[in-house]
Amino acid sequence: MNKLEIDTPAIIVDFDVMIRNIREMAKLAKDRGVKLRAHIKTHKVPEIAKIQLEEGSRGICVQKVGEAEVMANEGINDIFITNEVVGDVKIKRLARLAEKNKLFVAVDHPENIKSLSRIMKENGVELGIYIDVDCGMHRTGVPSTEAPELAELITRSEGLYLKGVMGYEGHAGAPLKKEERQKLTEEAMKTTLEAVNLIKKAGIEVEEVSVGSTPTVWYSSSYQEVTEIQPGTYVFNDYYLVDRGVVTIERCALHVLATVMSRAAPDRGVIDAGSKAFQLDMNKYPVALGMEGVEVVKFSEEHGWLKITGEAQNKIKLGDKLEFIPYHVCTCVNQFDTMYIIRNDKVEREWQIKARGKMV
Ligand SMILES: Cc1ncc(COP(=O)(O)O)c(C=O)c1O
Repeated sequence: MNKLEIDTPAIIVDFDVMIRNIREMAKLAKDRGVKLRAHIKTHKVPEIAKIQLEEGSRGICVQKVGEAEVMANEGINDIFITNEVVGDVKIKRLARLAEKNKLFVAVDHPENIKSLSRIMKENGVELGIYIDVDCGMHRTGVPSTEAPELAELITRSEGLYLKGVMGYEGHAGAPLKKEERQKLTEEAMKTTLEAVNLIKKAGIEVEEVSVGSTPTVWYSSSYQEVTEIQPGTYVFNDYYLVDRGVVTIERCALHVLATVMSRAAPDRGVIDAGSKAFQLDMNKYPVALGMEGVEVVKFSEEHGWLKITGEAQNKIKLGDKLEFIPYHVCTCVNQFDTMYIIRNDKVEREWQIKARGKMV
């Protein structure tokens, strides 16, 4: 079937663009001599994770225990949860996962280390730990100076072993200017590597230094001490990256197909995709593809308002199917059950987004 026959709103992914994105990141990792551990938080689809593994990713990253469970059920058994897992209920699920999988988790607090150790010991399993270092994002992570204390505690804790240090430089990708992104990345790397050196000075081995976000990984992966990168968005790319000049529109593999469901005024159209389809966590609207004079200006849950100007006022008709590039692709994917895989405008496959909606 042709992609325009798909009922809307729907996620469509250009397979060839996605494969090119996957291969390019795998090549970067290879050229830089680092391991790629692709983050699946963007696509949440086991079939895509398997392609990433075939194309050179060594293991995957996830953000939620539920995402790890979905991927493990599909036979992917080397998983790093790049997030803190707190509370006995969740940690018991980690213990079950650790029975059959190589499992790693991020920590930033001694109490969490103690809970993880207690439950892994009770279950007779081992869990690898990455110390999460706050390299400037001020979200999670310890200051670099506190990393050795956590490292020492981990090495003394039964059921746990220190795998590495994680310094996720997500904040560094935000500035629109390349020079500013580069500067923030350099500062982030300084902090992360300071933590690594302090741990080593305390006589403790650090096997992995894991960093990287799509807009900054080109800089952060160039540090000799880095062993692993964990980008996610690169698989599809999105308008956040286009806005920053990190990629061009042609490299955005995922679009949302939507139908013009109302055309009640010359300068106004409404599509059947609003915040329920796109999400709006960055307060930025999706961008219409190849349509001059069509701008998304407002959402309600099931409606996207289009401001239509110029020639487009004559062109856009009720029932037209238009394509949009999400501003933030990860949250958009999370809204859908399936994605259509497209080649040469034809639907080749339909994949379930099995790890969507995994809140816990
Ligand atoms: C801890 C962590 N690592 C890696 C990533 C992937 O970053 P990106 O999607 O920019 O490549 C994210 C994204 O949110 C993250 O939170």
